[in-house]
Order: sequence, then C-alpha cells, then structure tokens
Amino acid sequence: MCGIMGYIGSKNASEVIINGLARLEYRGYDSAGIALTNKDLYINKKAGKISNLRSELDFSELAPYNTGIGHTRWATHGIPSDLNAHPHSDCKNEIAVVHNGIIENHSAIRQILQKYDHDIKSETDSEVIIHLIEYYYERYSLAEAVMKAVVRLEGTYGLIVISKREPEKLIAARNGSPLLVGIGDNEMIISSDASAIIEHTRKVIYLKDREVFEIKRDNFMAFDLEKGLVDREIEEIDWNIEAIEKQGYDYFMLKEIFEQPETISNGFRGRTVQDYGMIRLDGLRLSEEELNEINRIIFIACGTSWHAGLIGEYLIEEYARIPVEVEYASEFRYRKPILRRGDLVIVISQSGETADTLAALKEAKSKGIKVLSICNVVGSTITRESDGGVYIHAGPEIGVASTKAFTSQVTVLILLSLFLARRRDMNSEEIKVYIEHLLAIPEKVSQILSNNDYIRDIAEIYKDKSNFLYLGRGINFPVALEGALKLKEISYIHAEGYPAAEMKHGPIALIDENMPVVFIAPRDEIYSKVLSNMEEVKARKGKIIAIANQGDNDIKEYADHIIYVPPVRKMLSPLITVIPLQLLAYHVAVMKGCNVDQPRNLAKSVTVE
Ligand code: M6R
Repeated sequence: MCGIMGYIGSKNASEVIINGLARLEYRGYDSAGIALTNKDLYINKKAGKISNLRSELDFSELAPYNTGIGHTRWATHGIPSDLNAHPHSDCKNEIAVVHNGIIENHSAIRQILQKYDHDIKSETDSEVIIHLIEYYYERYSLAEAVMKAVVRLEGTYGLIVISKREPEKLIAARNGSPLLVGIGDNEMIISSDASAIIEHTRKVIYLKDREVFEIKRDNFMAFDLEKGLVDREIEEIDWNIEAIEKQGYDYFMLKEIFEQPETISNGFRGRTVQDYGMIRLDGLRLSEEELNEINRIIFIACGTSWHAGLIGEYLIEEYARIPVEVEYASEFRYRKPILRRGDLVIVISQSGETADTLAALKEAKSKGIKVLSICNVVGSTITRESDGGVYIHAGPEIGVASTKAFTSQVTVLILLSLFLARRRDMNSEEIKVYIEHLLAIPEKVSQILSNNDYIRDIAEIYKDKSNFLYLGRGINFPVALEGALKLKEISYIHAEGYPAAEMKHGPIALIDENMPVVFIAPRDEIYSKVLSNMEEVKARKGKIIAIANQGDNDIKEYADHIIYVPPVRKMLSPLITVIPLQLLAYHVAVMKGCNVDQPRNLAKSVTVE
C-alpha cells in the first residue's frame, strides 16, 4: 500500500508532487507528506488526507524547489500521525526517503543504528532506511549509499531518496513494491503507478526487483544489485488522462459502475470470431500439448477477484468439464499445497500488485507449475512474473471497491471457459450462440443502469438497517458474496453472502422483520428452489429484495421489492445480476455519508501481507 511520488525537472516540484499524490490517494490516506530540496531540505507532513497537507502549503513560496518526493500512507507500523508520516529524514536533516512496503528486519536494524547514536523518532519500519543510508552516505555517493543500504533490508520496498548535498538527482529502488519512472521532456516523474505520470508523459520504465535508479532531469542510470549497470527499455502507456478523471460523476465508483457496458466490451473485443465459433486468447502462451494436458485449474486471488474465481469454477467445470479449485491467496502459500503435473494455476488480480496473490504465484512457480494471470494493470508485477495471461482491459479502477474490474474478470473467464470447452466437447455452433449472447450483454447492462433512480429509492428504504443477507445459488452464489462485500466495505453495514439453501443451516436464526434479504433469483433451473428459500424468509417476516428476470410475475408474491434485469443465458448471468447490487451498495453508502471511493481502513492495492 502507500503511494510514493518523485519529481525532478524545471517545474514547481511541490505542485507536481501534490497533484500526483492526489491520484495515488486510493492507495492509502492515513497521512501525507513532501520533501523538497535545492540547497536545503524542506519537509512538511501531516496526518490525514492530502487535502490536509495541501492546505498547509504555500506553493508560490515553494516554487524554487524543482526536486522533491512525496508520500500518501496506509499505516502498517505505527498509528497515523504527523510523526509517523513520510518523508523521514536522517539525523542531520540532509537526506529524506519515502517508502512503500514493509521492512521485516526493521527492529534489528533499529537496534544497531541506535548503538551508533542515530535518533530514530517514529514508530515506523521505514525510518530505519534513511538512517541506514545516512550511515553509508558518510563515505559514498547517494546512489552508492542507497545500494549499500538496501542490500541490508529484508522485506519489500519501493523507495525514493533525495539529498540536499546532491539536489540534482533522485535515487529510486524497488523490491516487491511497484515503481515506475516517467521520462518527460527534461523532467522525470517517479510514481507507484502510472496514474500520477500520465499527465506528464506516456514513456515509462518499470523498475524491476533489486534495481536502483539514479535519476537526473535529462538522463538516468539503472543498476541491478547483482549485475551492476544495466540497460532498460522504455515502454509506452496505452491509455489517456480522461480514464482517471471523474468526468462529472460524484465518485469514481459510480463512474466505474456506469462504464461497464464499455469495459465489458473491451474485455471481449478482438477475442471472439463469431463466424467460426472461435475464441482467441493469444496471451495464454500455452502450447497445444500443454493445453491438452490440463487436468485441473487452480484459481488464486483475494477479495472481489476471488469471487470472480468462484464464478470461473462454475463456468469451467460446467462447460469445459475440467476440475477447478479456488484458493484464497493468503491461505494457499501456507498450506503446503499439493500441485501436480497437469495442474494449471491462474491468478486473478485487478491491480496485479496484491502481495498475497504475488506470493502464491511465486509458490506455485517454485513447484514447477505454469502460472497464468488475469489482470487489469498492464506491466504490473503479477503480469511480469506469470508465464502468460489475459488482460481484462477495464482501464484504471480508482474506487477502492472493485466494480468494473469484477465484470471484466468474469467476461474473460467466460471467454476462457468457452476457449477450453471448444477444445473438449463444445462444438463451434454452440460457441457461436454463446458469442452472440455475450455480445448483447453491454446493451443489457445499460438497461439496468437506466434503473439507477429506482435502485436509489430502495437504498433509501433500507439505508439504516444494521445487517443484510445476500443469497444466491449456483453461479449466482459468488454474486451474493460480491454484493455483500460491496455493501460492507463502503457503507460499514454488516452483510453476509450465502448459498441460498445454506440459510436454513444457521443464518435463518438471524431473520426477523429487521433483516433485509437480497435474493439473486434469475429464472434458471434452480429458480423454484430459490422461491422456497424466499418462503422461509417471508415466514419469519424478513424483508425481501429480489433481483429477478423481466417478465417474472410469480416473484411478486414473495418479494417486497423487485429489481428486474434482462434474462440472459445462465453462463452470462453474473454480468447482469451484480450490477444492481453495486448500485444498491453505492447509494446506501452515499446516503450514510460515507466516503465511497476511500472507505476507512482499506486501500486499493494491498501490497503487504
Ligand atoms: O487488485 P486485486 O484484485 O488483487 O485486489 C484484491 C482485493 O484486495 C480487492 O478485490 C478488494 O477485496 C476490493 N476492495 C474489493 O472491492
């Protein structure tokens, strides 16, 4: 977590950095700070959001500074406070660092440094980094001192260092936490992700693990800690600034919900050949032999991406008839997983930076298993570490609560299940029909979005409830989990998702007139069973909100409120049924006065274990 930013060029560094941090704020918002240098070192840092810090700064006074670093924090070690905020500086107030990651051996380093009389003021793991650099900076240049220091660190870091002794350079280093350098016109911008760089340049270099860059305004040198000086190629970002603006929406989350007709299309565009009933997923990079050898697929992910994995399980088992398991990344690596020849691991991650997912990927690779990824962020660590994969092409997702990435992940999983099914039992005529129906989904999503006001009215009725149950069956059970997660993470209302039939094994005890129960009840082969589950809720005076298919009049007898969605093939159903649940959660959270895009205690990409 945490977002870090660096700038060197001819502009007012404080302005560039604060604007960049605002783009990175989704990564953490417990505190913010900047450090600037020319002949002196200026530091200002504050607990709370970036707006707190911004109101403290006099940008015209800071205009002479053209070099600086900044940080927005998601607290791990030490409470959110001014003292624990980054940047941290050395004892002589000569150098400063911003850090994203966790230094696991910080206590041991702290003890050694204290023996050398270093005055370490904060409770953070990060502050030891700058004192360690200070120790080496007595005898070496800044770049050399950083290289000497980072080899002593255990854990993860993306860090940037400045010095008033060498104000014409920034030093950046990476191990496990994302960092990229934007190459501008006589200026360089360093950031945890591309969103803070794109308004300056599209040319970027992604730092690799165990690399240190010495960056001046017009050139840079890249060092690998083992190999020394290395050549690095420049890449081009392929999206533009509009993708990360709110464009008139109150929140990014709402904008992202409304983008789904387009983002779902982007997920399948160029990957279906309807005339031939074919699916093309070139990024998989699997040979015919490897494809034929797949005996089992293991999806590994966290949070919403894990829910997408559960949908993948239903899809691939039903249509491609390949056994699937779905693992929480955080559990997988510590469980001594049994992996065999014929297993294929697929990690799913919007950010491509989730630490648990990355660790699970490495665990599977270390056992000689092929690992593919389904990711959104191009060039992210997970995409680089995996053997192949498929981008979901949802564009930048800024709202902490994942919405469009979920439907794009599901879109790619539908394609994957058809791709694998075609190699087994499904014929091209059947695939053609599925493709035709998939292509019609964006229009149907737009229809649901046009019901936004009606869904808001339902949210108004239930916004003050303390608990919600979400129930679904089959492929819509993971949708129930996702609906519950959306509500709890942004509105702080307790919500649980269950397979509808499991209700009678426990959760039914919770049902009374104060319990809203959201049923996902499309008219599929288990519809009548879901109606029976509704009866059980009704008998206990629970309030029923049903997501049902247009034309379903039977359900009126059971539900207090019905949100109608267009009927679709079962395989495509999650793409449709999740949309009202996203809107319901959004409106409840807004009505409760919650900060929808930046819910408390959360961050967009969880780069710590
Ligand atoms: O970037 P990832 O998909 O790997 O992130 C996984 C989870 O942290 C993420 O889905 C989280 O649960 C979201 N806040 C859900 O809205």
